[in-house]
Amino acid sequence: MEKRILILGAGGQIGTELVQSLREVYGQDQVIASDLKVPEHTEGPFVALDATDGAAVRKTIEDGKVDQVYLLAAMLSATAEKLPRKGWDLNMDSLFICLELAKEGLIRKLYWPSSIAAFGPTTPKMGTPQHTIAEPTTVYGISKFAGERWCAWYHHNHGVDVRSLRYPGLISYTAPPGGGTTDYAVDIFHQARKKGHYTSFLRSDTLLPMMYMPDAIRATMELMEAPAEQIKQRGSYNLAAFSFSPESLAQEIKKHLPDFTIDYAPDFRQAIADSWPQVINDEAARSDWHWAHRYDLEAMVADMLAHIK
Ligand SMILES: NC(=O)c1ccc[n+]([C@@H]2O[C@H](COP(=O)([O-])OP(=O)(O)OC[C@H]3O[C@@H](n4cnc5c(N)ncnc54)[C@H](O)[C@@H]3O)[C@@H](O)[C@H]2O)c1
Repeated sequence: MEKRILILGAGGQIGTELVQSLREVYGQDQVIASDLKVPEHTEGPFVALDATDGAAVRKTIEDGKVDQVYLLAAMLSATAEKLPRKGWDLNMDSLFICLELAKEGLIRKLYWPSSIAAFGPTTPKMGTPQHTIAEPTTVYGISKFAGERWCAWYHHNHGVDVRSLRYPGLISYTAPPGGGTTDYAVDIFHQARKKGHYTSFLRSDTLLPMMYMPDAIRATMELMEAPAEQIKQRGSYNLAAFSFSPESLAQEIKKHLPDFTIDYAPDFRQAIADSWPQVINDEAARSDWHWAHRYDLEAMVADMLAHIK
């Protein structure tokens, strides 16, 4: 069956690259990008669309003969902590709209990302298992944890083919990050090039799970292509590549830019980071649908600096 894909929230850090990769594989006209923000230029189909407007989402799917949806519209961790009710409403309403359309059979396959934020301070921080204690303490994390349970509920009760990954912090150079707690790991590269210095909003030793964007995009597409019977987790899969702290990232950047310096001024985002896991165990993804990351810290830093001039 021919694939027609709709991306909701396509203008953000992940969507910018996911749209491009999906178009390379499935064809430019098969992939409809949509966002609240209208981009200055688009190379393929684009629709201005509010992911919380159920009627408009339904119409876009029907008019575009869409059968797969990637729901990326969300409010991220740092922003949602400041706008709790707005964050909750956006993150949950958009998900319910898609899950209901999938229950009706209008969406045949749905992708919705979760996050390491679904865990909390009582979760084991090292080697965080697929199944473990999850008591998230941030608005964003609560919305991700609740969303995972709803995905599993719609799958088990209504046969909805929904798939999900708990992304770690994602590092990329194409689009700026959207207000998360791991944004420092992108900004540091731009400041290193511009000023040779970076002031980190997280403490030097804050170890967090991270991934380079090409791996995250490939993971997403491989998960969506995997035969349904291989997808055994219908909440969300742990996904991992490497973990680092601001200090160890700075050390790696210094190998390329020896004069680079860093200092630390932790803000409210430190408490968010302190509530999250440090090293994720993603054995389930590796065995169920053969996930394998390609970029380690060294390769990621070299590639980021090669692209940011
Ligand atoms: N980037 C990361 O490091 C990371 C890590 C874990 C999980 N995630 C998850 O991945 C998804 C995408 O993240 P991202 O980093 O690309 O976020 P982002 O903030 O960069 O992009 C989100 C996009 O959604 C759009 N949007 C906001 N409200 C909308 C609405 N009502 N209707 C339509 N579009 C709307 C925004 O304009 C923006 O372009 C989110 O669910 C996020 O929680 C991201």
